[in-house]
Amino acid sequence: MYGYRGVTALVTGASRGLGTAYARELARRGANLVLVARSGDALDRVAGEIRQAHQVEVTPVAADLAGPGGVTGLVEELDRQGRTVDLLVNNAGAGAVGPFLTSSLQRNVSSVELNVTALMKLSHVLGRRMVDRGHGGIINVASTAVFQSMPYQASYAATKTFVLSFTEALAEELRGTGVRVMGAHPGATDTSFFDGTSATMNPAFTDAPEGVAARTLDAFAKGAVNSYPGRTINRAMTWAPRLLPRVTVTRLTGRLNRSLGLHRAQDLG
Ligand SMILES: NC(=O)c1ccc[n+]([C@@H]2O[C@H](COP(=O)([O-])OP(=O)(O)OC[C@H]3O[C@@H](n4cnc5c(N)ncnc54)[C@H](OP(=O)(O)O)[C@@H]3O)[C@@H](O)[C@H]2O)c1
Repeated sequence: MYGYRGVTALVTGASRGLGTAYARELARRGANLVLVARSGDALDRVAGEIRQAHQVEVTPVAADLAGPGGVTGLVEELDRQGRTVDLLVNNAGAGAVGPFLTSSLQRNVSSVELNVTALMKLSHVLGRRMVDRGHGGIINVASTAVFQSMPYQASYAATKTFVLSFTEALAEELRGTGVRVMGAHPGATDTSFFDGTSATMNPAFTDAPEGVAARTLDAFAKGAVNSYPGRTINRAMTWAPRLLPRVTVTRLTGRLNRSLGLHRAQDLG
């Protein structure tokens, strides 16, 4: 059973949404924190609130992980401050929504840079250091979107499928090193994920980020390689894509996303 007390956890995308929930839950379990996102003011607010509620160290570091030099700058800052990261929570993520050809190419490309490239770079740099020390952990936040292709969220689901494949392979490579790697697959969660687009989530089908964060950390503590921290139906729905032909699954997913209006969704501004 993994113990969070006294470890230093770095949480990306900690300025709001699931990242803030991971940060609060880790602090509640006694972990010191490094909080990363682009919005320095929001990070400072989250850090202040956590310091008031818990006796843990909280260090906010503003960084654009999808931008050139974002990850390198973050690691240089950690080194400058002498911070050792025991647990990396690769949570920051973004995605375009709507028909691919009329969505913003920049939004699609930068989601690949954030969801894939930054996650891989941080896992490489900090993972090596963990293996050298003989202990540590990496939690990669993917999604239930990993289990099928998703029309109208085409590149987003593809980035998350990368995260699943990469995470499972790395978990196996690092087995026995003292460093554990886990993928977390939330379903629809009540965050600002669709902000900046015309898409919305139906509150009847979303989970609260606090519960998702707590269940993710419970699963990691128990040694899971994959965690399904949302409602039970989300996990059940991951089985159909494994049994049905891929073309059928993609057709059904397209139909579902059209019924949710995602074929009309677009970026706002
Ligand atoms: N919400 C859902 O339904 C859902 C379901 C399954 C999986 N997920 C996954 O859960 C994770 C968290 O998503 P969320 O729902 O909490 O989304 P969110 O509310 O939009 O939060 C995204 C976080 O990522 C940060 N971020 C975005 N671009 C960044 C960049 N270039 N560099 C550094 N930080 C950046 C944002 O902060 P700044 O804007 O300040 O940078 C924010 O803190 C993502 O990986 C997402 O794919 C979400």
